[in-house]
Amino acid sequence: MTAIGWHDDRVSSNELRPTYPVKTERLLLRPLTTADAAALLAYRSRPDVCRYVPFHPMTLEVIAERLRTHWATTTLTDEGQHLTLGIEEAGTGRLVGDVILFWHSRLHRGGEIGYMINPEFSGRGYATEAAQAMLKLGFEDLGLHRIIGRIDERNEPSARVLRRLGMRQEARLVHNELFKGEWSTEVDFAMLADEWFARYPDSPRSV
Ligand SMILES: CC(C)(COP(=O)(O)OP(=O)(O)OC[C@H]1O[C@@H](n2cnc3c(N)ncnc32)[C@H](O)[C@@H]1OP(=O)(O)O)[C@@H](O)C(=O)NCCC(=O)NCCS
Repeated sequence: MTAIGWHDDRVSSNELRPTYPVKTERLLLRPLTTADAAALLAYRSRPDVCRYVPFHPMTLEVIAERLRTHWATTTLTDEGQHLTLGIEEAGTGRLVGDVILFWHSRLHRGGEIGYMINPEFSGRGYATEAAQAMLKLGFEDLGLHRIIGRIDERNEPSARVLRRLGMRQEARLVHNELFKGEWSTEVDFAMLADEWFARYPDSPRSV
């Protein structure tokens, strides 16, 4: 993993170029490939899985298009980009979900995480473990200052993931988006780099 220094104390010149697979205790995070299409379809086509995410259940065609475009990204070189990685069970090689890190702002060093797990593999801590690895990439390698997680208030399993990660609830925006035909109350969580390094004091700081 590469961490490049700052030009000055205001604007990051960092890039994120992970060495794949990114390993955690039980998982391998790595770019998605066309070989993952069926495994992605198994959960991304499900209305229950997609209920609180900003896209509709996907067809194989949509998944194939994403694999050619957004999901082909393997590095973050500038703000506005996002990195989606497959979550693979290290022991079995099965794709159990995917996780995303958005780089929103170079100036403010802001990012955001998201995650999705095939219900067949939920309740094992995989989303939390994978999201923790994305926070690590964001804070330790990309040098982000602040990473957020935004959820629909009714998405309690996702709120539990963010709390387990040590993220703080900062805001509750009542009916702020018309989401899939109904008003959604958004709950915003955040973590600062200082909070990350206080939680993991042995972690290396890139800034
Ligand atoms: C949100 C979502 C990823 C949460 O999945 P999840 O399986 O509950 O989360 P994890 O994989 O981190 O598993 C955590 C659960 O496993 C349990 N668990 C079991 N064994 C565990 C272990 N070894 N380590 C950690 N947790 C373990 C935890 O207690 C926890 O259960 P709890 O929340 O009931 O207390 C999942 O519901 C999902 O994909 N939803 C659809 C997509 C979505 O809404 N994404 C979020 C958009 S903002």
